[in-house]
Amino acid sequence: MDNPSRDFSITEWLPLRELAADKDIIFGASARYNQVISDEQFAALFAQECSVLVPEWELKWSAGDYQLRPSPNEFDFSAADTMLDFAQTHNLQFRGHALVWHESLPQWFQQVVNHQNAEKVMKHHIETVMGHYRGRMHSWDVVNEAIDYDPIASQRADRLRQTPWLQFLGPDYIDLAFRIAARADPDALLVYNDFGVDYNTAMDKAKRRAVLGLLKRLKTKGTPVHALGIQAHLHGDSLDFDPKSLRQFLKDVAALDLKILITEMDVNDSQLPRDIQRRDRIVAGVYEDYLSVVLDEPAVIAVITWGLSDRYTYLSEFHPRSDHQPVRPLPMDTNLQPKLAWNALARAFQQTRKR
Ligand code: G3I
Repeated sequence: MDNPSRDFSITEWLPLRELAADKDIIFGASARYNQVISDEQFAALFAQECSVLVPEWELKWSAGDYQLRPSPNEFDFSAADTMLDFAQTHNLQFRGHALVWHESLPQWFQQVVNHQNAEKVMKHHIETVMGHYRGRMHSWDVVNEAIDYDPIASQRADRLRQTPWLQFLGPDYIDLAFRIAARADPDALLVYNDFGVDYNTAMDKAKRRAVLGLLKRLKTKGTPVHALGIQAHLHGDSLDFDPKSLRQFLKDVAALDLKILITEMDVNDSQLPRDIQRRDRIVAGVYEDYLSVVLDEPAVIAVITWGLSDRYTYLSEFHPRSDHQPVRPLPMDTNLQPKLAWNALARAFQQTRKR
């Protein structure tokens, strides 16, 4: 797993966004409001390294301390608007996450939404939110994580996840969401986003099959879906990475005339050795091994990490280490200095072909 003599050297120290742009690839990260608005050093680093910003919470219906949807008739765009201003000031593109998802729904959703009004509620949400940002978005995650967490255990042939949207609208809610989205902002790239397609476990294989099946059905119906978002929440301790299967999956997706975005990349180091040098080497190895396969597919046009620096990562809360050491899943450390994972990203961009 750890190879102390592995070479992560790089020839050119340029910001990741420039190394990626050289190959017509977009590099960016997610961030929360406070991080880019109140942490000046972090904000400067973000603007230096990234060419796209994805709000981690602020465009969800309700997440953390942000309520985009405080009530059935209200929208509060204030936090996301300020983030868009930040993005525009620094020449960053802005990417929206996520319009139709089963998580991060406000408390009122359960009381208010039912079979009768679900279509109206979805339409109102997509039209209002996409309409507000019309013409100013790189892309939108229109539908997020519609395939079952464990497709093997699913009772359904289409392996769709049991969500309020499925329950109220049936399997066509996905097609419906994309059609509404395409009318609401004809310039945005419309993305279906999901996780768990990276490894060669039985579960990931089933997930790849189910995602591909869904995308094929959508394309056959003429649904305006433009890209697959692969979250790529990777594991430092996984040994079952099979480049051949992943390449084939990417090829099959590209053959549907879809672009591919890596949308939420990070490497979970919670099970890795405590020693920081070893840990950083393993994490960097995972970044480079994965990206060298993925970037070989010309349909892949963006690499976005879920956070930029270990100073701010959801993994510190969701997957902490049992030895209480801080987690180190991202390209920059808590002092905003590049780690070997940064080199791994730089090397992957340098070594790939132009799109
Ligand atoms: O900080 C607030 C606290 O003030 C509040 O009292 C409490 C009550 O709900 O919530 C706290 O916020 C939570 C926040 O994480 C920080 O812990 C939110 O409830 C919780 O929903 C939020 O989790 C986020 C999660 O998505 C759900 O929105 C994570 O930060 C975020 O990183 C995660 O991101 C997801 C992507 O959207 C989709 N793909 C997977 C990815 C990781 O799970």
